[in-house]
Order: sequence, then structure tokens, then C-alpha cells
Amino acid sequence: MKKLIALFMVLTLSLSMVACASSTPAPVDKKVMIGVSMPTQSLQRWNQDGTNMKAKLETAGYAVDLQYGGDNDIPTQVAQIENMITEGCKVLVIAAIDGSSLTEVLKTAKEQGITVIAYDRLIMNSDAVSYYATFDNFQVGVMQGQYVETALDLKNQKGPFNIELFTGDPADNNATFFFGGAMSILKPYIDSGVLKVLSGQTTQAQVSTADWKSENAQSRMENLITSNSYSPKGTKLDAVVCSNDSTALGVTNALVSVGYTKDNMPIITGQDCDKPNVKNMIAGLQSMSIFKDTRTLADKVVGMVDAIVKGSTPEINDTKTYDNGTGIIPSFLCAPVVCTVDNYKQILIDSGYYKEADLL
Ligand code: BGC
Repeated sequence: MKKLIALFMVLTLSLSMVACASSTPAPVDKKVMIGVSMPTQSLQRWNQDGTNMKAKLETAGYAVDLQYGGDNDIPTQVAQIENMITEGCKVLVIAAIDGSSLTEVLKTAKEQGITVIAYDRLIMNSDAVSYYATFDNFQVGVMQGQYVETALDLKNQKGPFNIELFTGDPADNNATFFFGGAMSILKPYIDSGVLKVLSGQTTQAQVSTADWKSENAQSRMENLITSNSYSPKGTKLDAVVCSNDSTALGVTNALVSVGYTKDNMPIITGQDCDKPNVKNMIAGLQSMSIFKDTRTLADKVVGMVDAIVKGSTPEINDTKTYDNGTGIIPSFLCAPVVCTVDNYKQILIDSGYYKEADLL
């Protein structure tokens, strides 16, 4: 019996092999592959960006290689991009850890006809970058500056009000725009003495935060508290301009640990509407954040990818702001929105960005 079954199997196998050899191979549904390279998983926003991009690209019919560069590790990001090139990605969507460290790897991409889209952060000194999609980064800073201007009524008050400044990683080109935007509003008040920066730290280099890390912002704020005697009962601190939520979180932690509460907290700005920061806004520990709907950015970038793959021209709305050192990169700028405790429900909950339970 066993012999009979074995004979039957051999016969079936041989017949199917003959059939395969003689018929035309079924067409393989080979999807176009898109590489998506994000800087880190340690911040909420990049996880959302990555997840949104992957889901939307897959819905549009693409295969996606999504990678995160360790925890802001530049060699890891470079190696991941090299791999995306080797595996045949047609378009690379990259949020750079360090805007100036991708020049070499992107030379290979260009040689192989791969199109590169800079995602959220501009990639510098590379003529391989064809498009840039981001939020209006200068406007983000302007909105933070205007928030402080309105909250302290700087147009009418003489002050002086005490303020300190925090921005992001020096290798992130966005930080220059955020800081520049905020200073375009606040510098005239600093120059006229209505705002005082007691630390004397007012240049971007002096107020930057390595890797945008909360702990780095926290330790700088702790030093500022000590050296300027800021405290609820001591020297009054009226405002701290933070370029984003991770820096705002560090600053808030430092202030809370020396006794600041919702009743005497300085004005603190932020950006991203990260969950811990929205919770702080609700608790009265952070004044505002800037909402950048990563779903909108992902939609725009998927539209760009689709246009590139299909040979048409992607939609752009800015051809003058972002020069990466090799020329202006055609850009699409999404609109940032000011978020406070007064409108967060409408902006974040009603739009489905967060559930009420996320913010408890
Ligand atoms: C982004 C911000 C983010 C920061 C830190 C910037 O490039 O635009 O949204 O908070 O990086 O990750």
C-alpha cells in the first residue's frame, strides 16, 4: 500500500512539473517598494508619522520598508537607507536625524534613479533631494512667539518680564526655523528691555537641546533655576519658550521639582501635542502646543510618492523658502495650528486624533 501511495505521489509531482514547465508563468504581482526612514521611536510623533505613512502607502498599493534609526543613531539611519537602495526602493521618504549626514548615501540613490523626499526635516547639502514636505516651520515659531506676546500683553505692558529660551537639536534644520520664527516676534521686546533673559543665553547655539531630549532640557532648566534664583517665591519667571513638547516636558519637570504649580507656572510653549504635554495643558502645567496633524503630512507625502511613481508632478506650494545648500527644494508646507486647553477637544478629540481616554 505504502509503495502504491509513493508511486502515486511521484506521478502527480512529475505531471505538475511538466505542466508548470510548459505553461506561461503566472504574472507576479510585484509591488513598487517605498523606503520610509524615521529618526527615532523614542518620541511619540515619529511613531505616528511612521505608522501613518506605512498604512497610507500600503492602502495606495505600495510595499513599504519602514525603519527607525535606533534612538537618533546616525550610522544606523545611513545603513538602513543603504539597505533600502539595495533592495530596490523606487522612492525614499526620509526624516533625517542629522540633516547634513546623508550626502554620501544619497549620491548612490541619485545614481540609481531613486527619488528622495525629505520628510518634515530638510536634508542638507544633497542634490539628490527632489522634494520636501513639512509644516510651515517658521510659522510654528511665530505662533509660539505670538502666544507669549498676547499672554503677557507685550504690546501694552512695559514689564520687564523674565523669559528663557529653549530650542532643538542644532543638526535639525527645523530648529533654526522654529527659533527664528519665535525670535522674529520676541527679539524686539528683548532689545527694548520689555523682556529680560536673565541667563543672557539668547543665541540659537546657547539655547539648543541636544537630540531634542527632555532630560537635556531639564538639566539646563535646573541650572538656570539655580543660577538665576528662579522660584515661585524668588525671582519671577514669566515665560519659557520651548520649540517643542519634548523640551517643554523637561522644562516643566524642572520647574515642578522646585515647587511650581498650576497657580504660578510660567507660560510654557510647545509643539506636537504629545500626550504627556496635552495632559500637562489640561493640568495647567503647559500653556500651549502647536498641533501638526501628521495624518495630513502623510496624505501629502503619499500623494507625492504616487505622482512620482506615475510620472506626474507632485503638488507643491512653496518654491522659495527651503534652500538645502544645493538650491531651493520644491516644498509642500502644511499649516500648523495653535492648541490650548480651550480648543484641544475640538482639535484633538473631535478630529479623531486622540481618544478622550488617551488623555486621562
Ligand atoms: C519636528 C518636531 C519634533 C522635533 C523633535 C522636529 O524636526 O519638526 O515636530 O518635535 O523634531 O523630534
